[in-house]
Amino acid sequence: MAKSKVAYFCQSCGFESPKWLGKCPSCQQWNTFVEEVIEKTNVAVPTWKSNSTTTQRSNKPVQVSEITFDEEQRTLTPDKEFNRVLGGGIVAGSLVLIGGEPGIGKSTLMLQLALNMPQMKVLYVSGEESERQIKMRAERLTEVGSRKAEVRSQESEVRINKSEIENPKSQIGSGCFILTETSTQNIFKQIEQLEPNLVVIDSIQTLYSSHIESTPGSVSQVRECTAELLRFAKESSTPVFLIGHITKDGMIAGPKILEHMVDTVLQFEGDRHHVYRILRAVKNRFGSASELGIYEMMGEGLREVSNPSEILLSQRDEPLSGVTISATLEGMRPMLIETQALVSTSAYGTPQRTATGFDTRRMNMLLAVLEKRCGFRLGAKDVFLNITGGIRVEDPAIDLGLAAAIISSHEDMPIPFKTCFAGELGLSGEVRAVNRIEQRIAEAQKLGFEQIFISKYNLASGGKEKKRIDLSRYKIEIKTVGSIEEVFSMLFG
Ligand code: TYD
Ligand code: MG
Repeated sequence: MAKSKVAYFCQSCGFESPKWLGKCPSCQQWNTFVEEVIEKTNVAVPTWKSNSTTTQRSNKPVQVSEITFDEEQRTLTPDKEFNRVLGGGIVAGSLVLIGGEPGIGKSTLMLQLALNMPQMKVLYVSGEESERQIKMRAERLTEVGSRKAEVRSQESEVRINKSEIENPKSQIGSGCFILTETSTQNIFKQIEQLEPNLVVIDSIQTLYSSHIESTPGSVSQVRECTAELLRFAKESSTPVFLIGHITKDGMIAGPKILEHMVDTVLQFEGDRHHVYRILRAVKNRFGSASELGIYEMMGEGLREVSNPSEILLSQRDEPLSGVTISATLEGMRPMLIETQALVSTSAYGTPQRTATGFDTRRMNMLLAVLEKRCGFRLGAKDVFLNITGGIRVEDPAIDLGLAAAIISSHEDMPIPFKTCFAGELGLSGEVRAVNRIEQRIAEAQKLGFEQIFISKYNLASGGKEKKRIDLSRYKIEIKTVGSIEEVFSMLFG
């Protein structure tokens, strides 16, 4: 028997070293090396079409103008949110990694997708659950579909959504095949027989390749299995979805190199105690990486939320202090988000500052601006910020709304009803212009708001073009402000 070979791998970048190192010479991270038994078996074990030896072909440089390209082939799924996050459907031959905390709904999302693509043959490979477990979940997910179909047949005059017609009861799940297997070689054997149009792997950390003798989930196994699947995806033009675990600090488990290898990285996130889930593109070679899809976790699976503004605004009849609405933009989609602030006198020496759904350091900066530029004494106050719906906002246009919420709570004066905000706050208290202001204004108007505060610098947006926003086009009253003090004097007099 061959002597087993041990090597050390950096968990961050996948660097391989024959001995343990404290600091990775490649990515400069400390304490990232783990020991693994590797033993590349030299016996020819079939991988994806390994018998078809690829002859080394050397490429020549080509002028950009001479490269011909075809529009990449995309398949639209019935799930519109998913299409949007992918940048307009599934690209043939793409490798997509989906990460998320345990129990957030990754398997549910993928199984639901697999069940609802009757025109495609989908292979769902699970290394985590048994066939029975998956069947039980599938039953739960298809219940909605079949119930909807029954209701529809009764109310025939109700206008039916086109995508729903394509999925009548009999077809749900007809193209979905389940395979419980963890060896990549066996998976490829089944793939060669079945010839699926889409492969889902749940999850990459449970797979193992017999080329490498370390345990599933280890750095070298994850890297090898992903590389094999990548080869398969590219050579057969079959899209492959990988589900990936994440570590406790929110990174996708395994080497960082995993994220570099795949074409698209999606993050499925949300608060497990809330019903809303967000699918976010973190990296996308075929589209924008700032798109996001919103789902609601129901008893019968995930439901697309096509109008996020309405769910993110709480229903209330009277203005409350400390509550404001901001017109933010996630990806290309405008969204009105409610923010709440509570400012109270601190009971302890060091005041507490907590923000949910917003960066705490940025909140501290806003507080410093309000203290220094506007003279509000917030230094000895506890400040709590909350973005409703359990979502995280990174759009700086939310600054103005947050500052207004903080002062509204501090002064205990409510913001007038039907008012919303969109502006970034600078360190000197100036309200700065934000992008795509017209989309934000239009969304606020659509939802029945009566006034919106924006930066006056937005009026001369577009740089050299000096494209001016036509304010007369909107029914909503647009208040343009240059500094945060101006906002407060307009709001609170
Ligand atoms: P799951 O897809 O197993 O999560 P992951 O694969 O990311 O670990 O989701 C499990 C959770 O979703 C579980 O807590 C129950 C909930 N759930 C529903 O609320 N409704 C459903 O229809 C399904 C299938 C799951
Ligand atoms: Mg799962």
